[in-house]
Amino acid sequence: MMKNIQQVKAFAKLNLTLDVLGKRDDGFHELITIMQAIDLYDEISIEFTSKKAVSVAADFELPEGSVAFNAANEYMQRTGSGGANINIKGRIPPMAGLGGSSADGAAVLRAMQRHYGLMDRPSLYALAAQLGSDVPFLLEGGAAICRGRGERLEPISAGILAGLCYLVVKPGPGISTAQLFAGLRPPYAGAKSDEARLALQADDKRLFLSCISNALEPPAAELLPSIGHILKRLRRCGALAAGMSGSGSACFAVFDDKNKALAAAEGFVDAGIDFCGVFNPISGFDIYNKQDLCYNNGSGWDEGRIR
Ligand code: C5P
Repeated sequence: MMKNIQQVKAFAKLNLTLDVLGKRDDGFHELITIMQAIDLYDEISIEFTSKKAVSVAADFELPEGSVAFNAANEYMQRTGSGGANINIKGRIPPMAGLGGSSADGAAVLRAMQRHYGLMDRPSLYALAAQLGSDVPFLLEGGAAICRGRGERLEPISAGILAGLCYLVVKPGPGISTAQLFAGLRPPYAGAKSDEARLALQADDKRLFLSCISNALEPPAAELLPSIGHILKRLRRCGALAAGMSGSGSACFAVFDDKNKALAAAEGFVDAGIDFCGVFNPISGFDIYNKQDLCYNNGSGWDEGRIR
């Protein structure tokens, strides 16, 4: 019989590219973005209960109706499964564009499905998309080119991506995704998601790195000038490329040598930056297996964490 408590990891994402194509009638923006899961994660403990109720506690302030709560509650309502008591230890900085709350929701869905096994794959994905634009990707992990609101995935398997690591830096203040999108007006800054996808297919690393770009970067940097300062510094620290993730305020620099990334990180740590770490790409999860259970995954966090 399966244990009643699971420890799972909720992995963050980076947007290596992000194009905004336009605003849709439903208020969302049509995007093309290449997302990469990284080994920065929240730790989640879930106790499965026969009582049909969901509770969520966290060591940070959770919004009313968090994605994690909605994920477990909707799973329970739609399948008639038992409930869950969820406890979240937050590591992923909030309002950073790293997918923190969506990652929690995706990890809870994986755990519910692993324990109760009552949804088929299409229903699980439909629920994920309803919970948030990034939840389907974070359910899957790995790397993917994502379209629509970000919920339509085309997995990418590219040798180039496996050989990279990321220095992630976030200033103190964060950015609200909803607020940034609400203030967005055309023309949108050019980004290069499709070109990046072709470069990955052609195994052209130099071209791929030149495509790292984010249409949300200019409006985010206008809102929060420290983003511009961080990006300038990341571009001068020996990295192959640098960019902003999602709607910010976290930025990243790309390296193919972890020691160089760690050395560059020291400069940011010394300068007293709010959050800084070096992280590896994470391959896709099999939602019916146990790849993201804590005891089955090495010491990525401790190894990758700087401060
Ligand atoms: O889907 P999610 O809940 O993460 O989106 C948060 C907010 O960001 C939405 O309410 C919407 O205003 C905005 N958004 C958008 N276009 C997207 C994704 C999000 O306008 N593709």
